[in-house]
Amino acid sequence: MRVEADAGLPVSAFAVMIPRNKDMETMMKVRNALICSAAAAILLPQAALAKPAAGTADAEARAAATVKAMTAEEKTVLTHGIMAIPAFAPVALPADAVPGAGYVAGIPRLNVPSLRESDASLGVSWVMGMRKDGATALPAGVAMAATWNPALLRQGGAMIGSEARAKGFNVLLAGGTNLMRDPRNGRTFEYLSEDPLLSGVLVGNAIAGIQSNHIISTIKHFALNGQETARKTVDVQISDAAARESDLLAFQIGIEIGQPGSVMCSYNRLHGQQACDSDYLLNTVLKRDWGWKGFVMSDWGAVPGVQAALHGLDQQSGEQLDPAVFFTDKLSAAAKADPAYAARLDDMNKRVLTAIYAGGLDKNPATPGTPIDFKANGAVALETAKQAIVLLRNERNVLPLARTAKRIAVIGGYADTGVLSGAGSSQVHDEKGPALTISNGGDGPFAALISQQYHRSPPLAAIKAMAPQADVRFRTGNYVSEAVTQAKQADVAIVFATKWATEGIDQPDLSLPNGQDALIAAVAAANPNTIVVLESGNPVAMPWLGQTAAVIEAWYPGARGGEAIASVLFGETNPSGHLPITFPASTGDLPRASIDGFDTTETSFSGDVPANAAPLHANYDIEGSDVGYRWNARQGHKALFPFGFGLSYTSFESSGLKVSGTSASFSVKNTGSREGATVAQVYLVSRNGQAKQRLVGFSRVNLAPGAAQKVTLAIDPRLLADWKDGGWSIPAGSYAFALGDNAEKLGPTVTVRMAAKAWKD
Ligand code: BGC
Repeated sequence: MRVEADAGLPVSAFAVMIPRNKDMETMMKVRNALICSAAAAILLPQAALAKPAAGTADAEARAAATVKAMTAEEKTVLTHGIMAIPAFAPVALPADAVPGAGYVAGIPRLNVPSLRESDASLGVSWVMGMRKDGATALPAGVAMAATWNPALLRQGGAMIGSEARAKGFNVLLAGGTNLMRDPRNGRTFEYLSEDPLLSGVLVGNAIAGIQSNHIISTIKHFALNGQETARKTVDVQISDAAARESDLLAFQIGIEIGQPGSVMCSYNRLHGQQACDSDYLLNTVLKRDWGWKGFVMSDWGAVPGVQAALHGLDQQSGEQLDPAVFFTDKLSAAAKADPAYAARLDDMNKRVLTAIYAGGLDKNPATPGTPIDFKANGAVALETAKQAIVLLRNERNVLPLARTAKRIAVIGGYADTGVLSGAGSSQVHDEKGPALTISNGGDGPFAALISQQYHRSPPLAAIKAMAPQADVRFRTGNYVSEAVTQAKQADVAIVFATKWATEGIDQPDLSLPNGQDALIAAVAAANPNTIVVLESGNPVAMPWLGQTAAVIEAWYPGARGGEAIASVLFGETNPSGHLPITFPASTGDLPRASIDGFDTTETSFSGDVPANAAPLHANYDIEGSDVGYRWNARQGHKALFPFGFGLSYTSFESSGLKVSGTSASFSVKNTGSREGATVAQVYLVSRNGQAKQRLVGFSRVNLAPGAAQKVTLAIDPRLLADWKDGGWSIPAGSYAFALGDNAEKLGPTVTVRMAAKAWKD
């Protein structure tokens, strides 16, 4: 891996060399070793602690010794925990609990610390202000992935992990990795991408950053949790091969790179079995095939019974939300009666302890009240937001705006107040809380959690700061006529459009709600220099696209999002984000007409559905492993904006692709007149003449004008393979590769011959 210094923060090229002419097994070992050592070489911010975690083998040996020393009562202490949010699920909090997602008691006699768990991937969650403190909000997961920058995700992980630790948490429920199978999924904003390589590499780095703080990170939600509708009961169908080559591969890569102490199993069912009770997912895939040594914790309220212990679940979380507390008395009774349970009980404890010791949680206790450098941490959030913004359209080079612009109309999106964020358990705010909260209705305990909330980083103020001499006027956009009048009087009109999303609720389509499409069309008709700034966690339909001068996708840009947006608009930042998810031309191009059950199931945020509801199936065999751009390629659909798409204020050319074995090299040149970063993408295009598109490598490269750089990267052999007969298999034959500006704009193909190979995980 190459690591280069960018202005300010480190930028990496994910490029790993693999020696040629080795057999596949050696190649896999070398690849893994390189990924790990290269990952460790990335510069970490000051927040990260210097010492690496203790080796897993040592940790396992210590864990085994501690299990031997445990009494029968002590063996069901680490196996279950409460939801530590009394407002949601009444409970008395133990003295050493930190209010947050969860708490698992420790065993002081054996110096085993309690586990104090907070959500989530974007920072230490706000839990409706319950702790009366604040944290730094990273941009949404989809935004982080738009940076295609593993080192930056590692830095973000180290930052949020340091804040978790400073508040006394030693487990961060981060690592949302589910592939974006449907862009209407309400949790798309929390996840990373639709591609297994991109998601796996990025989440692995985020997890490694978090765990550099002597705390445990999860990777979640394992697995195939592709929708929120009826999330606790929806039954997913997918073949083993398709699962291994898509969602499971993303988790596998993430686990290899990040080595998370814990995996959180998901709410959904798979082939009729709840994921947290799935022998296939937990025992066969995770523990047997991948040889992973950590512990599986359940999602909150996802445990159906004590038998889940036999099927691989190690810890029952948020136990008040389950039908019963299974992993205490019921588990110890089962262990007394049945040696299979007794063996599992020891293994469950050993796994939790292995994660505790490997992370050094016992020797480096997290203490609440540690001061946090919010200024430094805000800079990480700001840099992530800047690199995440995707320039989608820029007619007549209307962007960047001149700082001498005279009259600017800013319209809509509460741009005078803040930037939008996604809702649910991952919600993060600073100590002042949201700048604005808009109720989404409802009257249950979760209603406040799933309201629309804005961070205190108003784009309007940031725009004014960028162009102090300009006459900048704001209109809410509530009245189209008023917005149009303002736009007519301005040199440039910037419309902020928002599409809110939340955990627990999927979306009917990709449209902008509340008449925003009509607003944009009217403003664009009134002013040819209309720029649309999207704040969304999902892809957006753009019926007005052809009328606009420019469009940027700013996602949910986090704690300092307003500044990041203004910085891109005025060219202080050259946009470099690339889409980690396809923006479809229409929902008709998606594998399913609507999210399964969306039109027929009445669900709540909790995911509970009425007992008499008809069984709900989600058939992922429709697209199989061809998620997102791969589905479009298979069906011949053209996207509105394809996966990997992103413009810049400069231009780049990638050329000279050479593939040798599983090593690809090429060069990237900045052919424009200003410094900028691009993401070079290498795709498999076909195999033995049959179309088969897969992203097999990527590299974010920062270049001065006129500069060129050679990039070499390793192709993970699993991306060329099929999952067949319980292992990976590369058929002999010709493999065509191409460089791509995005998944649809591919350069000339380079064809190489590969010998047949087959291997086990
Ligand atoms: C979510 C998890 C979260 C947990 C604890 C669940 O509802 O699915 O992502 O970590 O709650 O808050």
